[in-house]
Amino acid sequence: MKKRIAIFISGRGSNMEVILRQAREGLLRDCCTVALVFSNRPDAPGLKIAGDLGFPTACIPSAGKKREAFDRDVLDLLAPLKLDYIVLAGYMRMLSPLFIRAYPRRIINIHPADTRKFQGIGGYAWAFEQGLKKTCVTVHYVDEGMDTGEIIAQRELDLRGLDYLEEIEKKGLALEHKMYSEVLKELFEHEQE
Ligand code: GAR
Repeated sequence: MKKRIAIFISGRGSNMEVILRQAREGLLRDCCTVALVFSNRPDAPGLKIAGDLGFPTACIPSAGKKREAFDRDVLDLLAPLKLDYIVLAGYMRMLSPLFIRAYPRRIINIHPADTRKFQGIGGYAWAFEQGLKKTCVTVHYVDEGMDTGEIIAQRELDLRGLDYLEEIEKKGLALEHKMYSEVLKELFEHEQE
């Protein structure tokens, strides 16, 4: 059975775009259906990209809202969609325990660092400032902590020869784009029914 997923974004949406294309005609074609692209920010460029590609989109602005009240509205929006998974792709808002408990081990995130070493926003800038020779990208389940959920997969990012943050981000994003769909495919196909 194909998994029904929603992709959550807050901004650019480059990971989302790759997943949408893979779901339509590539690696993810036989294992998932994207039922919704959701954003908490009306100005997220990724929303327009998803709409232009013909996928359903929705936005509930989160600015100024209490975390739980906002998440309750999002849960109401999602309920009729009967989702199997929620895929976070640059979703820059902590999910409340209320939300996490509604989708236990069903929310996946990609993080531009080793989640055991760096949590939060700015993973590539952290690696750059530390002068690391290598870092990694992590795909993990989302739990109630900040980037503390069980790790599903990690891939190494060699930083040698990269002198600028922009170069690290470019190489890192390329790795994310390749990795995320591959890991999701593995997960969706091998999940115990
Ligand atoms: C990606 O680098 C993703 O790993 C990161 O935000 C970027 C989103 O880019 N996520 C986090 O830092 C989560 N803590 P995109 O909107 O182009 O996919």
